[in-house]
Amino acid sequence: MTPALPIALDCDPGVDDALALLLACAAPGLDLRLVTTVSGNAPASVCAANARRLLDLAGRAEVPVSAGDDTAVPDAVVHGADGLLGLDLPPPSRPPDGANAAAALARFGGTLVALGPLTNIAAALARGARWRRLVVMGGAIGAGNTPSGAEYNFAADPAAARAVLAAGLRPTLVPLDLARQALATPAVIDTLARASAIGRRIAPMLAAYAEQDRLHHGLPGAMAADLHAVAILDRPDLYATRPARIAVDEAGRCREDPTAPILDLVLEVKAHALFAHLAEQLARLSQG
Ligand code: RIB
Ligand code: CA
Repeated sequence: MTPALPIALDCDPGVDDALALLLACAAPGLDLRLVTTVSGNAPASVCAANARRLLDLAGRAEVPVSAGDDTAVPDAVVHGADGLLGLDLPPPSRPPDGANAAAALARFGGTLVALGPLTNIAAALARGARWRRLVVMGGAIGAGNTPSGAEYNFAADPAAARAVLAAGLRPTLVPLDLARQALATPAVIDTLARASAIGRRIAPMLAAYAEQDRLHHGLPGAMAADLHAVAILDRPDLYATRPARIAVDEAGRCREDPTAPILDLVLEVKAHALFAHLAEQLARLSQG
């Protein structure tokens, strides 16, 4: 039996961060050791409380959660003022741990999954952090999801995105383009709700998120972008990647550039199989 892979999530829950976090808790092949939060979909302290609440829901209250700095975030529209579109989980079972996110990430040496702006990742690298592997959800080769055309996480902190991609780590990059291939449609959300108690609990939040992507991007479902950054570790057989050299401009927009550092770009996902896998894993988690 292959030992479970030690992972850490740096995230800004956030609806799709929540899906990624629940999968990280459920998948037997993943060993979630640390959660850190960054200001993005909501201030980092709000995201940390959301992470503790989600870990309580998953029965994983032992996983440490360290918050980054509460920096200014754009109007909390897409994920709502609470960051979870009204999911309304019970208050966290434990207080904030007071540790600093960048310091905690610098002490971690396993596989790191970055699901928000790369502020903490860049700060941890500046402290000498070295991880076994880095997976980043960010950037867009095609259409982004901000007025500049950039993807949100890279637009929120372009300098950090440029620094992390230039650090020679050869990260795995999950761009927004991939999320457009695997939308959480009402039918997908209904399947998740029918499959487990946790699926039923989060379905209204997912439906509200899908409505946001319909309103803002004219899509028939939600772009569950962060889910793929964890799922590719759990089920790499469902994804296709290729080497690429991606440059990030001052606004966080991406383009292929032969002089840019190399990374592994995630191109395709078997969407139906992915959501069936997620439904199974949430059912496992619901049984405790
Ligand atoms: O552009 C999608 C990314 O921005 C996701 O990480 C989502 O949670 C938001 O942070
Ligand atoms: Ca996120």
